[in-house]
Order: sequence, then C-alpha cells, then structure tokens
Amino acid sequence: MSDRDRQSSIPRSLLRRGLNEVPLSLVITDPRQDDNPIVYVNRAFTELTGYEASAIIGRNCRFLQGEDTEPSMVQELRESIDAERQVTVDLTNYRADGEAFCNRLMITPLKDENGTVTHFLGVQTLWEKQSAERATLQRIDDALRQMQHDVGNHLSTIVAITRLEAYQGAESDQKADLIADRMEAISLVYEMRSAAIGQLEEIPLSAYLTQLIASRVREEPSEDVELRIDTGDVCYDPTTVGRIGLAVGEMLRVASEGKRTIGAWVDGSTVRIEISDSGEISDWPEDKSLSGRIAADLARRIGGEVSQNASQEGRVLSLNLPVTLA
Ligand SMILES: Cc1cc2nc3c(=O)[nH]c(=O)nc-3n(C[C@H](O)[C@H](O)[C@H](O)COP(=O)(O)O)c2cc1C
Repeated sequence: MSDRDRQSSIPRSLLRRGLNEVPLSLVITDPRQDDNPIVYVNRAFTELTGYEASAIIGRNCRFLQGEDTEPSMVQELRESIDAERQVTVDLTNYRADGEAFCNRLMITPLKDENGTVTHFLGVQTLWEKQSAERATLQRIDDALRQMQHDVGNHLSTIVAITRLEAYQGAESDQKADLIADRMEAISLVYEMRSAAIGQLEEIPLSAYLTQLIASRVREEPSEDVELRIDTGDVCYDPTTVGRIGLAVGEMLRVASEGKRTIGAWVDGSTVRIEISDSGEISDWPEDKSLSGRIAADLARRIGGEVSQNASQEGRVLSLNLPVTLA
C-alpha cells in the first residue's frame, strides 16, 4: 500500500477532528472559488483571532489586515499565491476586538494527484515575543540596503576618478597610494555609520573631518599641522560626506608645504573648509591638473566650489558648500 493510499483511507471525520485539535492555527482556502475564500478554520484559529468560524467561512483572509499591515508583506503574499509558491511572512494582523498582533504566516499550496493546486493551507503563529528583535533586524536590514546603495555611489565616483588617472598615465605606485587614500576617506564614512546603527541617515561633518584629517596627517609632527574644525551640528548624508572627504583629500595633497592650518566652520548658510600652507599660489584648480578637476567636480556635485587665494603665509585652498543641500 502506498503512503497516499494509506492516507486516503483515514476517515474524513477523523481528519476533521484531528485538524480541529491541532494546537496550531490553521486555515484552508479554495482558490477555485472567486477571491480564494476560507473553506475551513480550526479551533486554534478562532482562539487566536477571536472570530467565530461561521463569521469567516466564505471570506478572503485579508479581513485580518488593517491600518498598520505592511503593504510589502501583502504584496509578497499576493505574488506567491498567484505563482502557487510556498511563502512565509511576518505581518501585522488584527483580532476581532481590534487588537493588533504579529502573525508569522506560512502558506503552502496543496495539490491533487494531477499536480493541480486545489487548496491553500495557511498556518498562523503568534510572533509577539519576537517583535522587538524583529524591529531591530528590520532596522539593520534597512541600514544594509542603504549602505549597499551608498557603496554603489561611492565606488562609481572612485572608479571614475581612477579611470581618469589611468588615462593620464600616472605612475602605478603613485596610483596605488592615491586609491588607498580615497578608499580610506570612504571607509571612514562606513565606520562612522556602523558605529551609529539606528541614526544612519546623517553623519556629523566635524567628527568626520577630524578623523579623516587625523588619519592623513598622522605622520607629520604636530607643530606642523593646526586643526580648527568646528562645523557645529552640521550633518550630511553619507554620499555627500564621502564626496567632501574625497575633495578634502585632493586639497590636502596640493597644500602640503611647510606648516599647515586646516579649518572648517559655518559662515551663515555656508560651510567653509580651508587648508592653508606656505606654498606658492598656483592656478589650481583651474590649471587642468587632475586633482583640480577632481576637486572641482566633486564640489560641484554637492552644490559647492573650490578655489585658491593668496594669504600672508602663502596660500589658502577653500571648499565652500551650502549647509543645507538642495
Ligand atoms: C491559506 C491562506 C491563508 C492566509 N492567511 C492570512 C492571514 O492569516 N493573515 C493575512 O493577513 N493574510 C492571509 N492570507 C493572505 C490574503 O488572503 C491575501 O492573499 C493577501 O492579502 C494578498 O492578496 P490581496 O492583495 O488581494 O489582499 C492568507 C492567504 C491564504 C491563501
């Protein structure tokens, strides 16, 4: 006797009573009827939801949904049911008395001997214990998705710069150094973000610049570098901060003679970042040098500009950008 034959010999009434006693909430729907209505619910379902079987037989299960039900989960359900795929989702449902609960819902298509789906089985589990943890996981998931997006933006900027350099035939040792510096500017953005899971949207500029510059000038004697970074509570999104870091990196490379002063502050609606050294004034960034083009292009992308002016001690390279980006 095959397994199927053995199963089909179980009396229907026994099967029904058995399903009713299962301590798991179950529903069976019939997709051959209009709007895939419920044809069976067991006792655990009525206990979980507070609805009487007679009130819900013939209805689609979506009556359990409400205001805070996650549309993305409903869409996943719809697509999986349409494709006759097994699916598990966690979604917000409502009991008959209006109380919300987290439902871990597993749906399985049931096929007849010809492989045709004749019914769907749904198992509902109360997922209350997990909801705090779930919220944290969801936050991390969102953060990772956002990071994936930012990594794409940053890498494409670096790749564009590197291509330009390869085209201009920079020495390969020098190229490796340049790329390493740029990667450092970008990886710092990610370090700061992962230290602050939960408040990932914005990165404080002061903290970022202080760390970036410290890592770039760490081999210089401290009397040769003066830092005056205070941009208050100005924050930018990670893509913008990465671009500022790359532009400042180019400025640091150019202004590298004698004692340097590196300042950043807010002046009305403008953030000013200045690096002064004792070098002679040049045509940078208009001199068609690669670093001038890169810095000017990065500044333009964030609505700012780079420039160079003479000072008493030598020269000042400036990056000005709006406090609030368009
Ligand atoms: C067997 C089965 C059980 C289901 N159980 C639930 C449930 O407990 N809670 C819920 O919100 N949706 C449940 N659904 C999903 C809805 O019935 C519906 O398929 C979903 O809302 C997507 O379709 P819609 O966009 O037409 O509403 C179940 C579906 C099936 C087939």
